[in-house]
Amino acid sequence: MSERETVIELKNVDYTYQAGSPFAAAALHDVNIRVRRGTLVGIAGGTGSGKSTLLQLVNGLLLPTGGSVSVLDHVLTPGMKKPRLNSLRRRVGLSFQFPEQHLFEDTVEKDLMFGPLNFGMPREEAQNRAAEALRAMRLDEALLKRHPLTLSGGQMRKAAIASVLAAGPEIVMLDEPTATLDSAARRELISLLERLCREEGRTILMVTHRVEELLHAADEWIVMHEGRAVFQGGPDELAGRAGELGGWGVAVPEQLRCWREWTSRLPQLSSLPMPRTAEEMAGAIERAVRGAGGSGGGPEREENLCATN
Ligand SMILES: Nc1ncnc2c1ncn2[C@@H]1O[C@H](COP(=O)(O)OP(=O)(O)OP(=O)(O)O)[C@@H](O)[C@H]1O
Ligand SMILES: [Mg+2]
Repeated sequence: MSERETVIELKNVDYTYQAGSPFAAAALHDVNIRVRRGTLVGIAGGTGSGKSTLLQLVNGLLLPTGGSVSVLDHVLTPGMKKPRLNSLRRRVGLSFQFPEQHLFEDTVEKDLMFGPLNFGMPREEAQNRAAEALRAMRLDEALLKRHPLTLSGGQMRKAAIASVLAAGPEIVMLDEPTATLDSAARRELISLLERLCREEGRTILMVTHRVEELLHAADEWIVMHEGRAVFQGGPDELAGRAGELGGWGVAVPEQLRCWREWTSRLPQLSSLPMPRTAEEMAGAIERAVRGAGGSGGGPEREENLCATN
C-alpha cells in the first residue's frame, strides 16, 4: 500500500467557525492527516471532536482557516478566492450526518439524479445511475417516485447515501452512515463499502461511533479528540493504543480489549497481526494456547478472559 499515491493531505490545518466574529468557535487545531488511494479509513472520536468538520474540509464545503488541505489535484488554503469546486465535488462525495441535508427535491428519483445531472451526465445515464445506486443500497425501485420526506429514517439514510454514490465519486465520505440503520443494513452497507474500495479502488472515509462495526474492514483509523487528530494508523496500532481510547471518548471494542488481554498473557501472539474477525481471533488464540501447552480448552478460557476484564 505504501507506494499508492496520496489523495488527501491535511497539513497543520486549523478550522474556526465564524472566524473573526464574536461567535468564533475553534473546531480543529493543527491537524495532519494523509490518506492514500484505495484505502478504507475509519474515523472515530467523541461528540464535538471535529469529525464532521474534517469531512467538510476535504470536499471543500469549508475552507481551512490555517494550514492547507490537498485533495486530488486541488489545494485549499485560507482565504483563497472562491475556488471552482465543481470538479472536486464530483470526485469527492460526502454523505452528511443528517440525511435530510441531501434530500430537497419532491421525489427520491430527482434527488438521486441531481448529482449526475449537475455534473453534466445526460438524462438517461443519470436515470440509470439513480436506479443502480438505489439497488446497491437495497432499496425498492418503487421508492423512486416517493417524496423523500415520506421515507422511514433508515430508508432516508440509504437514499441519501445512494444520492452520493449515484455521481460515482472516487473518494466516498460518509458521516455516521450507520446511525439509523438496523444491524443487517449496517453489515450490508459496510460490505458495499468494502466492494467499492477493494474491487473499484475507491477511497472510503467513514465516521462511526461504533468502532467494532468497521474493525474487520478498515485499513486505517483516525481518532479525533478535542479538534486534534490524536491517532492515525492501522488496526494493530489502534489495538496497541486501546488503553487510550476511553480518554479520547471512544468506546473500546470488545475485540480490541480481548486481543490486548491475550497478547499480554501469550507473548507469541504479539508478533501476529490482529485477526480481523472474532472467528479468526478465536482460532489464533486457541492455537497459541495449545502451543503454550494449554489443556485444549482454548475457546472457553478465551471467553472467560474476555468476559472478566
Ligand atoms: N456551524 C457551526 N458553528 C459553530 N460551531 C460549530 C458549528 N458546527 C460545529 N461547531 C463546533 O465545532 C466543533 C466540532 O464539531 P463537529 O460537528 O465537527 O464535531 P463531531 O465530531 O462531528 O461531533 P458529533 O459526534 O456530535 O457529530 C464542536 O465544538 C462544535 O460545537
Ligand atoms: Mg459529526
